[in-house]
Amino acid sequence: MRWKGLLEEYKEFLPVNEATPLLTLNEGNTPLIKLDKLSEEWGVELYVKTEGTNPTGSFKDRGMVMAVAKAKEAGNNTVICASTGNTSAAAAAYATRAGMRCIVVIPEGKIAMGKLAQAVMYGAEIISIEGNFDQALQMVRTISETEPVALVNSVNPYRLDGQKTAAFEVCDQLGGQAPDILAIPVGNAGNISAYWKGFKEYHEAKQTGLPKIHGFEAAGAAAIVHNRVFENPETIATAIRIGNPASWQLAVQAQKESNGIIDEVTDEEIIAAYRKIAATEGVFAEPGSCASIAGVYKHIQSGKIAKGSKIVAILTGNGLKDPNTAIDVSPIKPVLLPNDEEAVAEHIRGVVHI
Ligand code: F0G
Repeated sequence: MRWKGLLEEYKEFLPVNEATPLLTLNEGNTPLIKLDKLSEEWGVELYVKTEGTNPTGSFKDRGMVMAVAKAKEAGNNTVICASTGNTSAAAAAYATRAGMRCIVVIPEGKIAMGKLAQAVMYGAEIISIEGNFDQALQMVRTISETEPVALVNSVNPYRLDGQKTAAFEVCDQLGGQAPDILAIPVGNAGNISAYWKGFKEYHEAKQTGLPKIHGFEAAGAAAIVHNRVFENPETIATAIRIGNPASWQLAVQAQKESNGIIDEVTDEEIIAAYRKIAATEGVFAEPGSCASIAGVYKHIQSGKIAKGSKIVAILTGNGLKDPNTAIDVSPIKPVLLPNDEEAVAEHIRGVVHI
């Protein structure tokens, strides 16, 4: 049967009423893929949920379809958000789809190329500040209190409602059961909070059980792990370059209630995971997403995840979002040859191993 998008498919779990526009770009229903080689190598049962297959290439579409629909329902003409890139792409796309305007505030020089290309193409009003995400978020929170614009960052509770649907899908894709461990990158901490909400609600409705939530911040932006604001967060994973997460308390609650852990992974660990899943499993996710895989590996090594565990790692964004980092970290470079069939054939004979 044709997938109708989140607002229709999960109506009974969402704040959807007769007045809510059934906005959609056919978001949700993303694949759950078993990583066979890594499962065997690491002695676990490891799956990834590829949220980069959503319409704008990240999990943000789940939250944005709900938040923009509710903003439209409330009579707003304009939405606003701060973003490290993915939120702005999703906000711009759904606002356009809903016939609304979109204003995005981004940190200058710190958003990946693909994300900027999206905001431009979807027709957003783009403001780039010489500051970081936390400062941009502070600005838009204040501005949305006085100006006639609807704030669609994850401090808007409709965002978490939309995003919690991914937890429903994980349970359904595993045959009606939650995994043992849910591993997830943490930036502004909205998504980890949304997943926990989703798992609890689905368990209530369908007795799916509850996972332990293992959240992973980048080590240069690990406010929750160290219980202090990072004034100057820094990481190669620009998506999660956030020093003062808005949903900090909700994330800690998810960790505590689920008997989980919030930990940090270094840029080196993130890049190793980023390269490994692409090169050994054919799954290309953006660096920030790969904090989940890096964290799973770290916790298997340290014994915080037991051998044999069933793990779902969330890959939050598509690898194509950030082509520059891919090119920078990959050892593979194109071989330049003359436009000559014999030269190409000769080269291929040298690289093909029979
Ligand atoms: N992964 C990706 C690819 C992201 O873009 C983000 C957040 C996260 C993980 C973390 O999710 O903030 O809910 O803890 N990106 C936001 C943005 C901040 O502006 O696109 P979170």
